Amino acid sequence: MSKDLFEKIYKNKGPLGKWAEVAEGYFVFPKLEGPISNRMKFQGKEVITWSINDYLGLANHPEVRKADAEAGVKYGSAYPMGARMMSGHTDLHEQLQNELAEFVSKEAAYLLNFGYQGMVSTIDALVSKDDIIVYDVDAHACIIDGVRLHLGKRFTYKHNDLESIEKNLQRATKMAKTSGGGILLISEGVFGMRGEQGRLKEIVALKKKYNFRLFVDDAHGFGTLGKTGAGAGEEQGVQDEIDIYFATFAKSMASTGAFIAADEEIIAYLKYNLRSQMFAKSLQMQLVEGALKRLDMLRTMPELKNKLWENVNALQGGLKERGFDIGTTQSCVTPVYLKGSIPEAMALVKDLRENHGIFCSIVVYPVIPKGLILLRMIPTASHNLKDVEETLEAFESIRERLENGTYKRLSAAVAAAMGE
Ligand SMILES: Cc1ncc(COP(=O)(O)O)c(C=O)c1O
Repeated sequence: MSKDLFEKIYKNKGPLGKWAEVAEGYFVFPKLEGPISNRMKFQGKEVITWSINDYLGLANHPEVRKADAEAGVKYGSAYPMGARMMSGHTDLHEQLQNELAEFVSKEAAYLLNFGYQGMVSTIDALVSKDDIIVYDVDAHACIIDGVRLHLGKRFTYKHNDLESIEKNLQRATKMAKTSGGGILLISEGVFGMRGEQGRLKEIVALKKKYNFRLFVDDAHGFGTLGKTGAGAGEEQGVQDEIDIYFATFAKSMASTGAFIAADEEIIAYLKYNLRSQMFAKSLQMQLVEGALKRLDMLRTMPELKNKLWENVNALQGGLKERGFDIGTTQSCVTPVYLKGSIPEAMALVKDLRENHGIFCSIVVYPVIPKGLILLRMIPTASHNLKDVEETLEAFESIRERLENGTYKRLSAAVAAAMGE
């Protein structure tokens, strides 16, 4: 008999799962309760929420709630049934696509029922085995999974490193000559962990020397960057040169769903070749109507983006003034880098949450180098300057306790258990 498939699962819960016993419910799978806003409840206590991607504060905006509720009454959550291609297509799906395409200055757009699957599928549909993919080593998991489906060659370049981008384009060009394929370069508009924008302007300039198509995942740029909120391409003045633009509704639109936008002929092709959309249920109408409402607000209420940036500038400026290392962010994503072990990081986050009422995401090794702690904050339009002030004070306090060894002492038992 062969061995039991589950044997490995009983022995090894995976790189994150192995921490479940100490981390679950607190550091991972925490339950934030109450209406989505700048302050929510965690384990019964009020916390300032810096970990939800509700950039424009739309999640609980009364107009959005009203539109969602009305659409729910009108359509329920089933309509339309079936995949777009079979029985799930409607006028409103088309209207939303047209409005999105116009908003991001592309000829056409196509809806995706989830960003993640849509991204995987789009990469899959764009390349055949003779083609070569060139992409950033820090790419989001959905890009990595899309690349995994590719049967041909792929090259990663060092994060946002122009020399490495060019070197890999040279390798890809050489390889493409033999295979007879083309080159797809994939970057993010904004890298969600550290907040840097992809070097789209410089990448686009390389099109003069190399023949490739550019695909940009702008999950964090859409609605937050650029004069009109059309994203990182608009911000860098190269939207026209992005061959395929992707954004999700899960962040500044505070919903579910996503879209890709490109030339009409490319979208017409993708519509018939995106397996995750051809063989999955259409985006439900409540989400489509909700997205139309949100898009209208993005277009007509610039005050939302202005308020977001007021909060971003106050938080990032305040952190810098106080000597915190916030890396090289060029977006709303606000990372704070501190030095310490994983047990110290756990004690620090507990202190932040329990004693200061601050809820933010924490990232440690192996996602970032050993000895580094990354606290990642996402300001939104629903935060206010009092939230920022309280947070800055809390950060000064935790830095002092980190430096004077308080967390090391508090975490000694955890450290011993982890063999650190
Ligand atoms: C960069 C990036 N791409 C894609 C996705 C996936 O989008 P969705 O949540 O719509 O599946 C995310 C996360 O939301 C993301 O951060």
